[in-house]
Amino acid sequence: MLKSVSSPTKPEVLVGMETSDDAGVYLLNETTALIQTVDFITPVVDDPYAFGRIAAANSLSDVYAMGGRPLTAMNIVSFPTCELPLEVLSSVLEGGAQAVSEADAVLLGGHSVDDLELKYGLSVTGVVHPDRIVTNASAKTGELLVLTKPLGTGFVTTAIKGGLASNEATEAAIEVMSRLNAEASEAMLEAGASACTDVTGFGLVGHAFEMARASGVTIELWIDRLPVVHPHALEYANMGLIPAAAYRNRDFVADHLHKAFDHHPFEMLLYDPQTSGGLFISVPEAKAPLIPGVVVGRVVELEDRHLRVVAED
Ligand code: CO
Ligand code: CO
Ligand code: CO
Repeated sequence: MLKSVSSPTKPEVLVGMETSDDAGVYLLNETTALIQTVDFITPVVDDPYAFGRIAAANSLSDVYAMGGRPLTAMNIVSFPTCELPLEVLSSVLEGGAQAVSEADAVLLGGHSVDDLELKYGLSVTGVVHPDRIVTNASAKTGELLVLTKPLGTGFVTTAIKGGLASNEATEAAIEVMSRLNAEASEAMLEAGASACTDVTGFGLVGHAFEMARASGVTIELWIDRLPVVHPHALEYANMGLIPAAAYRNRDFVADHLHKAFDHHPFEMLLYDPQTSGGLFISVPEAKAPLIPGVVVGRVVELEDRHLRVVAED
């Protein structure tokens, strides 16, 4: 939606709004480009510290998805002072600060407003060598696609909101969403990956579609290989504990997706919106083992649709 805002550009803008990439990139000099991104979210788990940590990991992720290194961050907070004790806010901010320090970045400040609902996130500034920027627009035919975190956290957070999530599934989802994409990003640079994006609100297919469209290719996804955060996540999906955004994601890609099967138990995983999801990386086949994650598909020449999902039988 933000793409409809038109703004004059400059030659220093290396990644702008056109390709729906994860962050903007601005060339400072021959060896340094600036990466800027901002993101904030409503709570996905009950524990305020875990929420702060997850929201910060989610915001930092867009810098990692560009192959960059986060340097500084600013807090963005909406807080209902009449509804919640201030200790909740302290815990959220502590969780966020912990993620920022693990990223070896520094918090410089931030801004908070009184609001009806708690929201938290970061604006993050990072750097990258201009020759090493990894966009979502350069996936190449023949490459494999590696996903570095399992899917299904949207089903678990929906179950948490409904008071139906098991402790095991909750813990697994918190662990996955809290994890920084720092190591995955380093590994993809090591592997010489061609393209990357992080899987967040549009789900695996939404972000895969943006990569395929920006790269002028078709992405084939292997549904049987999709990793799941916890077996309970699929049970929740079967019970209908599916975030509304999953259906919007399904509708959004429907015209761009060829499904080579009728029904599959993993189908909703394709659409499940993720918070602080993994990196989705296009990498030459021989280098794929260097990236910790699961190979979930490959890049093929452009077909009539940008996405094709196949099942093994
Ligand atoms: Co992103
Ligand atoms: Co983002
Ligand atoms: Co990117």
